[in-house]
Amino acid sequence: MRLWMIGCGNMGGAMLRRWIETGAVAAGDVDVVNRGDRALPEGVRQARTLPAGPVPDVVLLGMKPQQINDIAARFAGQIAGAPLLISILAGVDEAALAGRFTAGAIVRAMPNLPVGIGKGVVGLQSASAGPDARAAVAALMAPLGLVEWVEAKLFDAVTALAGSGPGFLYRFIDALAAGGVALGLPADQAQRMAVATVEGAGLMAAASADSPAALADRVASPGGSTREGLNVLDRDEALAALLRETLVASARRNAEMAAAAR
Ligand SMILES: NC(=O)c1ccc[n+]([C@@H]2O[C@H](COP(=O)([O-])OP(=O)(O)OC[C@H]3O[C@@H](n4cnc5c(N)ncnc54)[C@H](OP(=O)(O)O)[C@@H]3O)[C@@H](O)[C@H]2O)c1
Repeated sequence: MRLWMIGCGNMGGAMLRRWIETGAVAAGDVDVVNRGDRALPEGVRQARTLPAGPVPDVVLLGMKPQQINDIAARFAGQIAGAPLLISILAGVDEAALAGRFTAGAIVRAMPNLPVGIGKGVVGLQSASAGPDARAAVAALMAPLGLVEWVEAKLFDAVTALAGSGPGFLYRFIDALAAGGVALGLPADQAQRMAVATVEGAGLMAAASADSPAALADRVASPGGSTREGLNVLDRDEALAALLRETLVASARRNAEMAAAAR
């Protein structure tokens, strides 16, 4: 499978490294366009322009959303007719992509950073892709982690929950560690324990048939210390309300960016 990547920074780079590591994509079949050379996997070609020659099987847009007009002006002609155009741009909807690029099918993908270790989430959405294109995209994304198709109207929600989710969780881990420091633990030790606790709890939740809510109740025996702490998080739905507000704000920003890009 030949792949052109327009922009390959933090997120595109994480996807590319995982694809090459798992053999899903061969480094020699990849051409990257960026503004300056970056550390990319060995064998991947990078340049300031796309290579001459026929369009590849897949073109992936991996630059920042605000670069879309510049990229369309420079490359839309050259990528026209590619069978598959995948965009990971937050807040740029399919209509905005279709207004600037022509391709057999256009698919929006919303990855998060753990795709680099095969433990990410990739939300997918497309109105233009037929069954074959959908199957091809799902197969390409499979080595990156959990792959979920969603309707267009829910894409901003996926972006808020999974795309931005690692950022929110890092804040939670930091706050968990800070809580330990407030009780007297050395900062480095508290951080190591908070990270390992979230890793272990996450792995157990992923492996369990029970819901996270049920798992929380199971570790909190009545009258015990975990229950006492959960009572604080649950008071007036404190944590639930905070995260609802967090995701609403994040999804709203995605919708605003989509409106600006149209
Ligand atoms: N980071 C996340 O957690 C995340 C999650 C979901 C989706 N996304 C989406 O992923 C996209 C990339 O984000 P990122 O965090 O990976 O950004 P990034 O690290 O800044 O990477 C952007 C890439 O685009 C290239 N680029 C920018 N302007 C260009 C231009 N005019 N011509 C050619 N190449 C250009 C950059 O080139 P250089 O290498 O030369 O700088 C870089 O390779 C964004 O659209 C974002 O919405 C990100």
